[in-house]
Amino acid sequence: MAFKQAERLENVHHSQMRKIFGLCNELRKRGEPVADVTLGQPNFPTPQYIKDACVQALQEGHTGYADYSGIPILKEEIIKKIKRDTGMDYGPDEILATTGVAQGCFVSLMSFLNPGDEILLPDPVYFIYDNCAHIAGAAIKKYTLKEENEFQVDIDELKSLITEKTKMMVIVSPSNPLGASLTTDNLSEIAALAVEHDLIVVTDEIYDMLVYEDPKPVSIATFPGMRERTIILNGFSKSFAMTGWRLGWAAGPEYMIDPMNRLAFYMTSGPTTFVMHAAAAALRDEDGSCEMMRKEFDKRRRYLVEEINKLETFSCLAPKGAFYIFLNIKKTGMSSQEFCEYIFHKYSIAVIAGNIFGSSGEGFVRISYAACDETLKAVVDGLQKADKDF
Ligand SMILES: Cc1ncc(COP(=O)(O)O)c(C=O)c1O
Repeated sequence: MAFKQAERLENVHHSQMRKIFGLCNELRKRGEPVADVTLGQPNFPTPQYIKDACVQALQEGHTGYADYSGIPILKEEIIKKIKRDTGMDYGPDEILATTGVAQGCFVSLMSFLNPGDEILLPDPVYFIYDNCAHIAGAAIKKYTLKEENEFQVDIDELKSLITEKTKMMVIVSPSNPLGASLTTDNLSEIAALAVEHDLIVVTDEIYDMLVYEDPKPVSIATFPGMRERTIILNGFSKSFAMTGWRLGWAAGPEYMIDPMNRLAFYMTSGPTTFVMHAAAAALRDEDGSCEMMRKEFDKRRRYLVEEINKLETFSCLAPKGAFYIFLNIKKTGMSSQEFCEYIFHKYSIAVIAGNIFGSSGEGFVRISYAACDETLKAVVDGLQKADKDF
């Protein structure tokens, strides 16, 4: 006997990244080296002071249920960070601790979208947004981020996509997979449209501490009329090298955080208690580890951009944030998928096809420079060789 899955899961798929992960594992099992730049995960361990704080929290007995919207000492640190970075004041009822930004995305979309509502998503974008929109039964409209436009939002295109049914817009800046940040002018125009058309804006700021060029990106929540309609999503995975700890937060007006909190309760009943204690320490006792990692990513970013742009066949824009390069492979004449297979089988380099982040990613592949220097050197060597093949 086989039961049919619920209809809401019909367009919800496993990450297409699994295929390349499987191929990498096969090579590794055979003892063959592979330069794997697929993972959006810092190659650094979680800083020691955070691990120590977690051990201490366990020893102090923080192993029971806690306030499921987030423990007060964690909220206090999140509120201070937002104040420091944006100048905005948030209260404890305006913060929700989430099991990673992934859960923040899920509860934001599920709490406000009804079937048939329209949501504006960037193309390309990290694919949790498409899948959560499908689960909510929302109709997805994509606004494109093009290389020739430095991956900024084309405001005329955005306007043309807005209808009576448009309820929400998502922005991700700095972006996965593009590494680009939206400029203050671009954000200001987006904000004006959101106010005019009464849209909720979900802003994914998970890479806000991983920025490399001035001016630093600002939060769209700071623009006039935006605070009351914006959900800020952020988390510890990337900047604090805490991907496996599964902790993030959402910040927004209380009337928006309250339904999200109710929904989150019936999913997880709150994040892990001792992890929340460690995360409070991560923000409170920051000892320079994050800055050390950011500087290291910046060094790698500069190296890759310089080496890639010396080549004939390949090119890239210098990313302003996150730890991704969106490599233009159009001169190869191959599709993104074909190129991934080619570079994997011929030069043992594993990258992600740009089109899995959306159709405008066709002609690109994503390289993550959250990998070690040796791996990045192997990628550059492989690209130099591949350059001569075309
Ligand atoms: C833009 C973006 N948002 C959210 C996530 C998920 O983050 P978390 O580990 O906090 O669930 C990622 C992870 O790659 C991401 O790149």
